[in-house]
Amino acid sequence: MAEAEDLKSSQYGFESRLPYQPSVSLVAPLSPCENTRLTGRISVTMSSNDPAATSADPTVGSLHLTDSRTGRQFELPISEDSVPAIGLRDIRVHEEDFGMLSYDPALLNTAVCHSSITFIDGEKGILDYRGYSIEELSSNSNFAEVCFLLLNGELPTASELDLFRAEIHAALDMPESMVKLHAALDKDLHPMSMLESALAALGGDFPESDEVLDAEVRHQQIIRLLALTPVVAALGFRHRQGLAPVAPDPNLSYAGNLLHMLLGDPDKPADVHPAVERAMDALLVLHADHEQNCSANAVRAVASSRVNPYSAVAAGASALHGPLHGGANQAVLEMLDTIDSVDDVPAFLESCKTGERRLMGFGHRVYKNYDPRAKVIGQLAGDVFDVIGENPKLEIARALEKAAMADEYFSSRKLFPNVDFYSGLIYSALGFPPRMFTVFFAIGRMVGWVAHWNEMMSDPNTRIVRPRQLYTGPKRRPFVAIGDR
Ligand code: CMC
Repeated sequence: MAEAEDLKSSQYGFESRLPYQPSVSLVAPLSPCENTRLTGRISVTMSSNDPAATSADPTVGSLHLTDSRTGRQFELPISEDSVPAIGLRDIRVHEEDFGMLSYDPALLNTAVCHSSITFIDGEKGILDYRGYSIEELSSNSNFAEVCFLLLNGELPTASELDLFRAEIHAALDMPESMVKLHAALDKDLHPMSMLESALAALGGDFPESDEVLDAEVRHQQIIRLLALTPVVAALGFRHRQGLAPVAPDPNLSYAGNLLHMLLGDPDKPADVHPAVERAMDALLVLHADHEQNCSANAVRAVASSRVNPYSAVAAGASALHGPLHGGANQAVLEMLDTIDSVDDVPAFLESCKTGERRLMGFGHRVYKNYDPRAKVIGQLAGDVFDVIGENPKLEIARALEKAAMADEYFSSRKLFPNVDFYSGLIYSALGFPPRMFTVFFAIGRMVGWVAHWNEMMSDPNTRIVRPRQLYTGPKRRPFVAIGDR
């Protein structure tokens, strides 16, 4: 068995920066390969005399692999319950082969980084930011505190929070370029498309943001993005209605200022009920981060090229826009609009079961018992509806949920209401059109995107994201002139 020292001389050139050895070790000596097939089986065993089998730390040990094509055996180091995928590269039939890849088209079972920001246990329905439960944070904290927590790892003291808020307030001035950009945008453009364009364009206002390896420069951009995302989102919202922008009010809370810029008048503050402001704040908290979701992964992939963070979060917003991700909140309301009454619910569910459509706001890649955000939002919805009256679609939503939860199709696939099922009903009751809902998701999620960006830019293991493929096209062939085709 090769010793750990041998593994350090990896041919991949980044061994010293990886937390564990990147290569497999060859357990059995190589014999001349007779089997040239590329398909076969890798059998995995944990030998009984492996010290890891009795190790005090069950997340550390080694994995023994046997390649049925060659009979060769390999050993992969286990660390943190994972094995290094690059280690598979040493498994090959012929010396000149490229080596084995892992095939994981939707990154179902691939850890792409170390992160200390957010923890999810999908089976137990746990979501924690830096160790604090989402339930506690949404009821006892507020969005500004949660932003500080996600970015810095600890809840702020009173003076730290004052300073953080002052930094955000100082960055609230909207660049003139944003007004010009929106003036040029069609009023009917989807507000998420407006936001995506605006976020990317903001990079042009802050060219120093190209210095992505400078921690102080990163901090400035993070503050700017937290300050300006609601300002720009409100500008887009009002532009669509032909209304003049409302200047931010630094004396208001983050959520209060957002509602003020959306619903106020240039010369009169918005009259927002405290329960509504509180609900909006809690919704921002609930959406603030969700570890390696589709949009965070888009931010990471784009930022890995060392582009400025405005382009990276524009990519995140674009990923969020899709109906399987953040766009689901809009899709839920549009879905509810197609169901006229509770009597139509069974037929609608049948169409979801036959694959004609998806039950939007249901299901999750990670949560397999319940989405803890959905539970909190269900309670929030009650608080808001007590103040402003029930959303007429609520009855249909509840009937859909009840029928789906009692249906074998949904229970056997572990499909439950997710964060987007009831959030849209709250936004809708506040008078916002469905096309705005994902914008609210993006405003909350911005802090998660920039927290991940900051974490990855200071992680020595970060390299440009560049996956592999399993090529299925033709082998190289001679070019055929157009007249001969
Ligand atoms: N309605 C009907 N069937 C569903 C649904 C649904 N909403 N979600 C999953 N399924 C079925 C799917 O057809 C498949 O069935 P089968 O095994 O017979 O082929 C099975 O459940 C597994 O589905 P999947 O597509 O392999 O699951 P996934 O992990 O790839 O997708 C999801 C997760 C969230 C994209 C999916 O559940 C979905 O499309 N839900 C509706 C859209 C939605 O609400 N998205 C918001 C997610 S929460 C916000 C966020 O964090 O992004």
